[in-house]
Amino acid sequence: MKVLVATEKPFAAAAVEGIKKEIESAGNELVLLEKYTETAQLLEAVKDVDAMIVRSDKITPEVLDAAKQLKIVVRAGAGYDSIDTAYAKTKNVVVENTPGQNANAVAELVFGMLVYAVRNFFNGKAGSELKGKRLGILAFGNVGRNVARIAKGFGMEVSAYDAFCPAEAIEAAGVRACKSQDELFQTNDIVSLHIPATPETIKSINYAAVNQMPKNAILVNTARKEVINEEELLKLMAEREDLKYLADIKPDADAEFTKFEGRYFATPKKMGAQTAEANVNAGIAAAQQINAFFKDGCTKFQVNK
Ligand SMILES: NC(=O)c1ccc[n+]([C@@H]2O[C@H](COP(=O)([O-])OP(=O)(O)OC[C@H]3O[C@@H](n4cnc5c(N)ncnc54)[C@H](O)[C@@H]3O)[C@@H](O)[C@H]2O)c1
Repeated sequence: MKVLVATEKPFAAAAVEGIKKEIESAGNELVLLEKYTETAQLLEAVKDVDAMIVRSDKITPEVLDAAKQLKIVVRAGAGYDSIDTAYAKTKNVVVENTPGQNANAVAELVFGMLVYAVRNFFNGKAGSELKGKRLGILAFGNVGRNVARIAKGFGMEVSAYDAFCPAEAIEAAGVRACKSQDELFQTNDIVSLHIPATPETIKSINYAAVNQMPKNAILVNTARKEVINEEELLKLMAEREDLKYLADIKPDADAEFTKFEGRYFATPKKMGAQTAEANVNAGIAAAQQINAFFKDGCTKFQVNK
């Protein structure tokens, strides 16, 4: 089977090496399309491939139509909103992600940004500590669980809410379970977002939700920019001089947020999963999932069932 790695922003060399080894060890062939600049290059490359590994690359109906032999596309990462999963289903193309492989990387970045923020963005003035602060984790998935583990090391009081994960499972991890998203916002000094971008969550983090947070609140977003209602958060930040917003994905209204000096920080590019370890883990997991699909028809990680 012919497997294409199509990455506008390439994997680290070690990850490509690992993917190649995995794919070839199962008797499959690997082809590479890295740093492409035009959609036309992608459309040409997908023509005769049976499988694809992508990162944040957009897999649109146009790409899926051009990929006549495609049977499976794996997003080396957690979120898969860059792939038209419903259209892929109509073409019998299995879409998978590699959950958990970059979760620790994202979770560590949450704390990098938090320490930076509570120390006043290193402006030379005395800041505060994370120890004893209440951290609310919105969505207790792979990233959320890693955030909880690290937060305990900082001596924080940790609680979480997840619409689909039962309270017992949250409590089994030694974390207080909130009964609702509102309770999470009401009872925490810091709220860290780990929800996927879905029709229910898009723009759900709005004025009413965040305004429930106590004084000197911090909102951290390493999930997706789309979950924030930017217009309403800007309004709230203008009204509440105690509120800080930290983001791993520059908001569309970055210029507007930048006006809140000392209260806003965004990484220049999405940095959450950008570690050598996450890169290698996610790439190799994608290759193993493709091998398992062709060998045994395994679709354990399919997201468009
Ligand atoms: N910054 C980055 O580079 C980066 C990297 C990885 C993931 N992410 C983002 O972080 C998100 C979480 O990643 P993950 O690996 O933990 O995913 P995951 O699938 O393991 O966990 C997502 C959790 O969200 C919960 N959930 C879904 N809808 C919800 C809702 N409406 N309200 C409350 N909870 C809800 C699910 O039950 C699940 O537990 C991803 O969807 C992705 O958007 C960003």
